[in-house]
Amino acid sequence: MTLWGGCFSGKLNPAAWALNTSLPFDKRLAKQDVDGSIAWASALAQAGVLTDEESSRIISGLRAVRAEFESGVFAFAESDEDIHTAIERRLGELVGAAAGKLHTGCSRNDQVATDFRLWILETLPLLDDAIKRLQSTLVTVSEQNLTTLMPGYTHLQRAQPVTLAHWLLSHFWALQRDRERLADLRERVAILPLGCGALAGTAFPVDREALAKSLGFDTPAPNSLDAVSDRDFAAEFLFCAAMTGVHLSKLSEAMVLFTTTEFGFIELTDAYSTGSSLMPQKKNPDMFELARGKSATLIGLLTGLMSTLKGLPSAYDKDLQEDKQPVFQATDTLLAILPVLAGALTTMTINKERMSAAIDSSMLATDLADYLVVKGIPFREAHAAAGKAVRAAAEKGLSVDQLSLNEWQAIGPFDADVYQVFDAMKSVEKKSAIGGTSPESVKKQIQQAKSTLTPASP
Ligand code: ARG
Repeated sequence: MTLWGGCFSGKLNPAAWALNTSLPFDKRLAKQDVDGSIAWASALAQAGVLTDEESSRIISGLRAVRAEFESGVFAFAESDEDIHTAIERRLGELVGAAAGKLHTGCSRNDQVATDFRLWILETLPLLDDAIKRLQSTLVTVSEQNLTTLMPGYTHLQRAQPVTLAHWLLSHFWALQRDRERLADLRERVAILPLGCGALAGTAFPVDREALAKSLGFDTPAPNSLDAVSDRDFAAEFLFCAAMTGVHLSKLSEAMVLFTTTEFGFIELTDAYSTGSSLMPQKKNPDMFELARGKSATLIGLLTGLMSTLKGLPSAYDKDLQEDKQPVFQATDTLLAILPVLAGALTTMTINKERMSAAIDSSMLATDLADYLVVKGIPFREAHAAAGKAVRAAAEKGLSVDQLSLNEWQAIGPFDADVYQVFDAMKSVEKKSAIGGTSPESVKKQIQQAKSTLTPASP
């Protein structure tokens, strides 16, 4: 039996039924639907629409339904069109006629939007926590690698030496912004649609302020038409997820490179790598490739929902039933990736020798220019002289630190102390202003990073 059969004489075609039903995916909203319904029953009682006796019958029936879901014994019926229908049907079986009064002044349109917002509100702290755990891993590995040198790259070309700690923390801050975005999103999710009816509002004197507070929302939605059709919060959620995916992909791409034989910077433990069915020597960084690949899916989920929303006329349209799966999928994807990446990073072996051996003396050419700047040469001239030195060395088949003092002096005002420039650790130590790669500033960065991890989740 459907909820809307009154003016219908025929039955829905089975294929049309299969297309119409959202139960296969919206059953994930069971808990939120029960919570919302309990709050609505109380609000109706307070408004004098239900007697206290009716509302307590309904509420205890809904609690019994919740217990059935929690213990996994809830039985769906073939006629259940979606989770709202299923719960209302079961409530009727448990409490009889009183169940038919629960949906006074309430439509599935305000109900589904409420359930969905509640689901996201409950999911935000889970995502925050999963991101935070990966951030903690990055901090821990950074603390162990304050003085581990590696080439820093731009255009994927060797650029300047940095420490591994600094590189790892660059990913920490991207994830930090992801957590901030999710926290900021909360206030736009915590706006209550319930009590807006199908589109025009409810005709019963429900105290929506109190209703909002009782469900943990900040405020009731101020416009019923907007409330039943607004899915901005879901799109924003998907953007947050996609952005996090992009950050994880960036980290993963580097990890894929660093684990190649050519780089040889990182070796993954067996627990986080896979082999080839054909080539016995292969050890593949699948977890990072999957994180990179799934970030594309996350972007697709966002653009899918945006396309659904674009061009919808006012209030509820059935297209909006397409909103839930992308949000569920994005959540599942991130909650699957984040702990695996944290595990892979915790257990990886870092080949410090390979990393520092990859720093060649030409990567200190900027330091060479800085050396001349300290002697009063304008930076542009100093840059040109350092460039000349690199070229002169290359022409002679030498590395730049192998030029003789005479050769240096033919290029510019270099003295014997020029050779001290070619110490990558010294170069790193000089980058001591806030945000630089020197171990001293990275220590401060770690303090700052840790302080963002201590406060409670939103
Ligand atoms: N299953 C529907 C959805 O997810 C619930 C709302 C149905 N509303 C309606 N007017 N048919 O959007």
